[in-house]
Amino acid sequence: MTIKPTGQTRIPLAPGAWPIIGHSLRLLRDQLAFLGSLPAHGDLVRIKAGPLKAVVVCTPELTRQVLRDDRTFDKTDRLWEHMRDALGNNLGTCPRASHRRQRRLVQPAFHPSRLPSYADVMVTQAADVAAAWHDGQVLDVPAEMGKLITKITLATLFSESLSATKLDQMHGDVRGLLDTVTSHLLMWPPLDRLPLPINRTYRATRFRLRQAAMQIITERRSSTHDHGDLLSALMTATDPETGDALTDTEITDTIMAFLIAGIEVAAAILSWALHELGRHPDIQARLNTEVDTVLADHPATHRDLPHLDLTGRIIAETIRLHTPSWLLTRATTTDTRLGPYTLPKGTTIIYSPYLIQHLEDHDPTHQTFDPDRWISQPPRDAGIAFGGGARKCIGDTFGIIETTLALASITKHWNLHHLPHQTVRPTATLVSRPDQLHMHAHTRTQDRRST
Ligand code: HEM
Repeated sequence: MTIKPTGQTRIPLAPGAWPIIGHSLRLLRDQLAFLGSLPAHGDLVRIKAGPLKAVVVCTPELTRQVLRDDRTFDKTDRLWEHMRDALGNNLGTCPRASHRRQRRLVQPAFHPSRLPSYADVMVTQAADVAAAWHDGQVLDVPAEMGKLITKITLATLFSESLSATKLDQMHGDVRGLLDTVTSHLLMWPPLDRLPLPINRTYRATRFRLRQAAMQIITERRSSTHDHGDLLSALMTATDPETGDALTDTEITDTIMAFLIAGIEVAAAILSWALHELGRHPDIQARLNTEVDTVLADHPATHRDLPHLDLTGRIIAETIRLHTPSWLLTRATTTDTRLGPYTLPKGTTIIYSPYLIQHLEDHDPTHQTFDPDRWISQPPRDAGIAFGGGARKCIGDTFGIIETTLALASITKHWNLHHLPHQTVRPTATLVSRPDQLHMHAHTRTQDRRST
């Protein structure tokens, strides 16, 4: 790929590239610091990682240009072919040519009228998971939150519930696939086909998840009842041009989209929120007061959301500070101008909600966890956490409601405290969650007695 500048200079290459592997090690080990360092080198910066050569967009304006123009910046390169192979050809991975059709198919499941009943399911599932904890228990927080969000996703969109073992397996597989897909993508062929442990995990998790999705379809086929959920909508949908029903492969691919895009991000946000509350007892105390007042005599419902003001700001601030999507890509479908440069057709573009939300000149306090910064107005470019343009997150409102109600339901009865001397770092995976976050669960009655 040659990138022709319209001016005198080439797009700068990020410093620290090694021969052959380029910036792979930094991307795999220290991705957030690496991304944060790029804007110092230009509005567009080139990086290399194994076979991947890409241009990282480092300004909000150019990021918006990329997101608005999905015709020029599409999901069409080798990387996206690989993603379609890994995750299925679905709403999240498909190219523009089939995106509108895919989006129309699933849109009804995200209509605002569906949200109040989803909210009830979310609260029931949160209560169910937290009811299994005991006072003083040490929780693997990301695992518990992963289990909770998997339960919510299955119950709301597919009216499905799984045994505890199958649930753990499914969340483990969602995470396993997301964790291995990036490394797999950065491998030179034929390394990606050798029987290495990472390749085995990648293939096994992908296989098991697709099997689980197909099982959900098979079970539904044996029932005559219309559940009124996403799965029913998919199973009764017909192609507007041919009149054909969706094939089982198409439905499986769509289920994969929601398992992959909906579970790990929301679980990571809840885990980071509980981590931040553990680090900020003052905010935890204010949250306890809010929850005790608003939910004094009933479990949370959709109607409580406007009153769970601080809870909502804690979630918004967690999404800002710990933006789970840090690396998303597009490919140019034609020669095009971006900023002062002309990019040839086929250039891989990286945009990063994390990078944009952590620009120093945006806000020098960007590393501080401060839910009150949202009181008067949202911070600049806050919406970028959900992407933008035609491919903006379809589950944005769903995800905010889910994490807000889950946090309120959990903290109504439990406060979580860090273990001593714990260092919590983000994982260097496609969705970064807090690594090794174990916390003590204390019942609120216990906490009240000790204060
Ligand atoms: C709660 C926090 C969430 C965040 C921060 C988030 C973030 C994002 C981002 C940045 C994108 C754009 C990807 C791109 O540009 O290629 C996206 C797309 C998507 N998200 Fe989310 N997401 C969240 C929750 C959810 C939930 C709960 C679901 C499903 C229940 C979901 C399903 C999807 C799907 C299917 C897409 C692809 C949309 C399309 O291409 O039309 N997300 N999300």
